[in-house]
Amino acid sequence: MSKYDVLIIGAGIAGLYAAMKLPASKKVLVVCKDIPWECNTFYAQGGMATALNEADVPVHIEDTMAAGAYHNDREAVEILSTTSLKTTAEMIKAGMEFDKDGEGNILYTKEAAHSVERIVHAGGDATGRYMHYFAMVQNKHQLQRNTLVYDLLIRNGRCYGVKATVNYEPTTIYADDVIIASGGIGSLYAYNTNSRTVSADIHGICVEKGIELADMEFMQFHPTVFVDTPYARKLLLTEALRGEGAHVVGEKGNRFLFEYDERGELASRDIVARGIFDYKRRTGENVYLDFSMFEEKWFHERFPNITHTFEAIGYHFPQDRISVSPAFHYANGGIKCDTNGCIPGMEGLYVIGEAARTGVHGANRLASNSLLEGVVFAQRAVEHLLGKGHQAVQTPTFEKDYGNILHKENDKTYKQKLRQVMWEDIGIIRSTKGLHEAKNLIYDMKNQEIGRLLQLRLNTASAIVEAALARTESLGSHYIEN
Ligand code: SIN
Repeated sequence: MSKYDVLIIGAGIAGLYAAMKLPASKKVLVVCKDIPWECNTFYAQGGMATALNEADVPVHIEDTMAAGAYHNDREAVEILSTTSLKTTAEMIKAGMEFDKDGEGNILYTKEAAHSVERIVHAGGDATGRYMHYFAMVQNKHQLQRNTLVYDLLIRNGRCYGVKATVNYEPTTIYADDVIIASGGIGSLYAYNTNSRTVSADIHGICVEKGIELADMEFMQFHPTVFVDTPYARKLLLTEALRGEGAHVVGEKGNRFLFEYDERGELASRDIVARGIFDYKRRTGENVYLDFSMFEEKWFHERFPNITHTFEAIGYHFPQDRISVSPAFHYANGGIKCDTNGCIPGMEGLYVIGEAARTGVHGANRLASNSLLEGVVFAQRAVEHLLGKGHQAVQTPTFEKDYGNILHKENDKTYKQKLRQVMWEDIGIIRSTKGLHEAKNLIYDMKNQEIGRLLQLRLNTASAIVEAALARTESLGSHYIEN
């Protein structure tokens, strides 16, 4: 049996930042399912939003609330924006290198639905990768890869640790405090931009334990994704491309997005994604991102990651345009918690990052607020945890059950079916009929001979479809046609 002061599930930016902030005197273990950089943070391109100065705080708050269709929890948004000044400065002081101009001034870019240029970025268009590396090298605690958590040890409103496989061996890890930083739910959708490790297992465990998920109807679809690849993770084309002036066009080069919103390419993400989806469906045309307005050298320097990724599959920028489609990108909802990451009615269990529902994103997340959310709320959770002081926790005995078979023979087929039904019926544009069909299919799959991990995915899928059915009017990223 191993016992820790703090166990962190997930090694994306939220998990690693929490680890960074926990003192070396604490016995901390960070676990991740695969290698640490197989996480959504690593694939984040555009940047991290931050208020520019005190005067920009109310503007950032208003942009976040407006993008979220005012469904946000205002207190959480105020915390996010106000804290961003201090957090960004602290990260820079600790060695995080955001891109600068020749005179050493930080460069800010614009993304959709931001009133001003306030996105800091690194490595041009590889911000997540740089932030992840920064947090990895700062982390002084033990990190255990290949660790798949399949149960939370919960008794009488307290969490005592987890059941997991480490290098495929079942084990129990006890901890006085557990921080969930396991990311979102991307693998539930046929088309998604997420790491393959992000598969909603912990959300599914929470459903099983009666821990509330909230805002699960608000799933975010990124508007510009290259989906014509055989891999599960589709290739993101950052919003910063449109922020810098790239156009979304139909087959004849027409910029059709103004038919949907006067801000065109720079409307909020839900509107642009829906516009592209609807235009493709209505006209049968392909939709493209057009970069022809950019100067070649500038483009390659500003977007090196995209340049190299697409060069490897035969595209040359800025002359070639790329066909794009929306794809699942981010869970606005998640495990319900307060602004310290505490889960109501549950001791010793925190949730941070994309897994959490603090209410900060409302019905649709503002571009690049996610990396910021990861660091701001990780720090708050750690401050709360340390503020409690040391409490000696008596650990009860938990039975060994080893997950009662994590995988079963037909899971692969059911998983594909689930991914397809999520995309078609609980996707960008929904109908009541489609949602009912999806609900029945999900319940049907739950009653088949399936492994525990698929059962957990289905628990989360059920929470999404139930939430979507309960909201009969469209709002933000939840759009219902009839
Ligand atoms: C992007 O670079 O477009 C993604 C940024 C985000 O998810 O906010």
